[in-house]
Amino acid sequence: MAQTVSTGAPARATHDFYYAVHKGLRRAHGRLLDRIATCDTADRDALAGLAADIRHHLAMYRSHLEHENDHFHTALEARVPGATLTAAHEHDGHERGFAELLGLADALVTADAEGAPAALRALYRAYCLFMAHDHLHMDGEENVLMPILQAYFSDAELAGIEAGMVADIPPEQATWFMRMMLGAATPAERRGLLAEWQAAMPPEVFTGTINAVVGGEWRAGDFAAFDRV
Ligand SMILES: [Fe+2]
Repeated sequence: MAQTVSTGAPARATHDFYYAVHKGLRRAHGRLLDRIATCDTADRDALAGLAADIRHHLAMYRSHLEHENDHFHTALEARVPGATLTAAHEHDGHERGFAELLGLADALVTADAEGAPAALRALYRAYCLFMAHDHLHMDGEENVLMPILQAYFSDAELAGIEAGMVADIPPEQATWFMRMMLGAATPAERRGLLAEWQAAMPPEVFTGTINAVVGGEWRAGDFAAFDRV
C-alpha cells in the first residue's frame, strides 16, 4: 500500500482577495461604459449626472488602488522585495488615466451643444482604453500576484492582511463595493459572500449593511435582490 510522505512544506494557501472585488469592479466599469455610450448629448442634466458618476466611480477605484498599495503591496514587499513592481507601475498608470478621465468629464459639462457629441466621444474612447488597461492589470493581479502571495503567506496570514484592508474602508465606500461584488457574483458566490460577512459582523450591523446595499429592507434568502440594484 502506498504511503503518503510529508515533505514538511506547508500546504499552499488558497485564500484569494482579488477575485470577488475585481468581478465587482469589472461590473462597475461595464455599467458606466454603457452609460457613457448611450448618454443623450442634448440633455444637459444627463451629461452633468454622467460626469458626477464618473467622478464617483474613479474615486472608488482610486480608493481600491490605495488599499491594495497600503495593505497587499506593503505586506508582499516585506517578504518578497520587488514582487509588486509591475502592479505598482500599473497603478501609477491608472493615476494618469484618472487625471485624463476627470479632465474629459469636466469638458463634457462645459461643452456647448455643438461640442457635446465630440466631448462624449473623446470620453468614451479614453474610458474604453482605461478599461482595457485595467482588465489586463486586474488579470495580472489575480493570476500572477495572487499566486505569489499564496506561495509566501499562509491562509491565516492572507485573511489577516485582507481583514486589515477591509477595516480601512469607510462605510459608504464599503456599501458601494459590496453592491458591486454581490451584483457581479453567481448565486453560489452571493451565498458565500453573505455568509462570510455575516460571520464577521454583529447581527444588527450585518442587517443594516445589507439593507444599505439593496437600498431597502433585505429579506434573508432573497439573493435576486442584488440583481435589482
Ligand atoms: Fe491593482
